[in-house]
Amino acid sequence: MLEDAAEAHGATVNGKKVGGLGKCATFSFYGNKIVTTGEGGMITTNDSELAARLRLFRGQGMDPERRYWFPVVGYNYRMTNIQAAIGLAQMEAIEQAISERDRLAQWYNQALAPLQSQIVLPSCQPWARQVFWMYNIFLREGTEQRRDAVMRYLDSQGIETRPVFYPMHVLPPYAQPSQFPVADLWAQRGINLPTHQALTEDDVHRIADCLGKALVNA
Ligand SMILES: Cc1ncc(COP(=O)(O)O)c(C=O)c1O
Repeated sequence: MLEDAAEAHGATVNGKKVGGLGKCATFSFYGNKIVTTGEGGMITTNDSELAARLRLFRGQGMDPERRYWFPVVGYNYRMTNIQAAIGLAQMEAIEQAISERDRLAQWYNQALAPLQSQIVLPSCQPWARQVFWMYNIFLREGTEQRRDAVMRYLDSQGIETRPVFYPMHVLPPYAQPSQFPVADLWAQRGINLPTHQALTEDDVHRIADCLGKALVNA
């Protein structure tokens, strides 16, 4: 199993950290992630042969035992020392970042509770520890056009939001003949609300207030 743990730094499944669930996992350190190095990412694996192969491809395909000998065509995917230093410093503060985002999610849960007849709030299974890269909500009814109108209303109030990702099966390189109607439906109704540990409880109340108005006016 290959895990895409891009956004999930610190999340757990049955007490086990993501990144250690399968043969290997990928994490993103892009600028908007819980842990960032500006750009770049990380692969985790317990398989030493695979790790050696990944290092080979990362470092232009150069044989680690024979300088300037390239047994394979590789990539220039090395992380710089400067990025690594930033990432290590970020890792020292990861628990704080996660718990501040948990607190933000609790503020959202409380402030948005009165809107639950119109929106679905995030929920977490008892066997998992969720981390809030993004706090996302879903409209219970309506089309992509309505979702976009709600987002435009929020934007007019100075609140930036993002649509949730398109499901992979609709993207041209991964297009599939199979039907995934549930994923299609929910992808059209999902909104990522502002999610950063610097947001205050007052900010959250203003966002919830504007969302309530957007649901009426949009
Ligand atoms: C689930 C998922 N996979 C992959 C990526 C891509 O990560 P990167 O931007 O580091 O390439 C992202 C980025 O947000 C993501 O959310």
